[in-house]
Amino acid sequence: MPPLKRKEKILVTGGAGFIGSAYCRLLVQKGYRVCIVDRLTYAGDRGRLKEVLPQAGFHRADICQAERMRTIFKKERPDIVVHFAAETHVDRSILDARPFIQTNVVGTQLMVQLSMDSGVKRFLHISTDEVYGDHRQGHFKEFESPLQPNNPYAATKAGAELLVRAAIRTFSFPAIIIRPSNNYGPWQYPEKLIPVVILKALSDERVPVYGKGEQVREWLYVEDCARAIECVMSKGCVGEIYNIGSGFEQPNIKTVKMILACLNKPERLIQYVKDRPGHDFRYSVDIARIKKLGWQPQVPFEEGLELTVDWCLDHQGWLLRKARSLKDHWSKVYKVQKTKERV
Ligand SMILES: NC(=O)c1ccc[n+]([C@@H]2O[C@H](COP(=O)([O-])OP(=O)(O)OC[C@H]3O[C@@H](n4cnc5c(N)ncnc54)[C@H](O)[C@@H]3O)[C@@H](O)[C@H]2O)c1
Repeated sequence: MPPLKRKEKILVTGGAGFIGSAYCRLLVQKGYRVCIVDRLTYAGDRGRLKEVLPQAGFHRADICQAERMRTIFKKERPDIVVHFAAETHVDRSILDARPFIQTNVVGTQLMVQLSMDSGVKRFLHISTDEVYGDHRQGHFKEFESPLQPNNPYAATKAGAELLVRAAIRTFSFPAIIIRPSNNYGPWQYPEKLIPVVILKALSDERVPVYGKGEQVREWLYVEDCARAIECVMSKGCVGEIYNIGSGFEQPNIKTVKMILACLNKPERLIQYVKDRPGHDFRYSVDIARIKKLGWQPQVPFEEGLELTVDWCLDHQGWLLRKARSLKDHWSKVYKVQKTKERV
């Protein structure tokens, strides 16, 4: 496939989210024309886009609203669609799967349909490594490992992917599926592990850790993820699936202790809470396929974590504002274990 020209217009769904906004920043830096569609749910924030707007167009819209989205496609006439918009927090999907089914499955099908109707040259579907489920050893491979999602969020992401796959096969839809591992970095909403730990520790509050903190995650710095997606957008092959990961994995408890050390906070802040139901033990992806396109991760975990902690220190007001709206959520999700275990 010939490399893309910079003047092409990219429509980014979920561009006001954590990864979507990092992606928009990269696109604008590289001179692409960008337009963003985002409903601005609790997880979306235009503040993440201050370097991107007004160069990029912005539409506050729900990807599930067919007529509104049809009008936006007609107006913007995108060459490429990069589809990030989703409900993304596993704990919320366990409490109520309905918004996940709506946005992640129904919304994705509508994005596929409108992209086909408007003849886009390429559609990048941002999926997740969680569609594989978990395993204790080895690395998930794109076409060899089965899809075995274990929580409602992952199940809806797998469902969305299968709709994209079906469109590729049935309609020769020019789509590519991307499965990133756990991202972290600036602007992440403080309901995900790393910003939760930073926020709680900064406020000298107890830091909740699921179970014994033994679950293993592969951590990918958000800017590395954005570069990987841009690499796939420019050089990837239609019909392909690409994992994105860093190769760096470790148990959550180690990550929590690294953050506490970084902030000079005591480990006695750690509070073990009842494990998440169905909690996946370990994710780890094989990244040989994307490496062949010339991408590789650039930010080692220690460095990325330091950058993230520094960013949080500089943006405590933002984190605290977000945290205020999370109080109810935390009381529903974290159930403290009556256990003597302390580290
Ligand atoms: N964060 C991770 O570690 C990670 C890892 C792998 C894959 N992913 C995938 O990457 C994508 C982005 O993740 P994120 O962490 O940036 O998520 P996020 O929750 O920070 O952002 C999601 C964005 O989508 C928007 N959105 C939600 N529903 C919408 C709707 N109906 N219409 C329009 N906009 C809507 C939200 O307002 C928000 O801006 C998701 O598809 C997610 O599944 C995330």
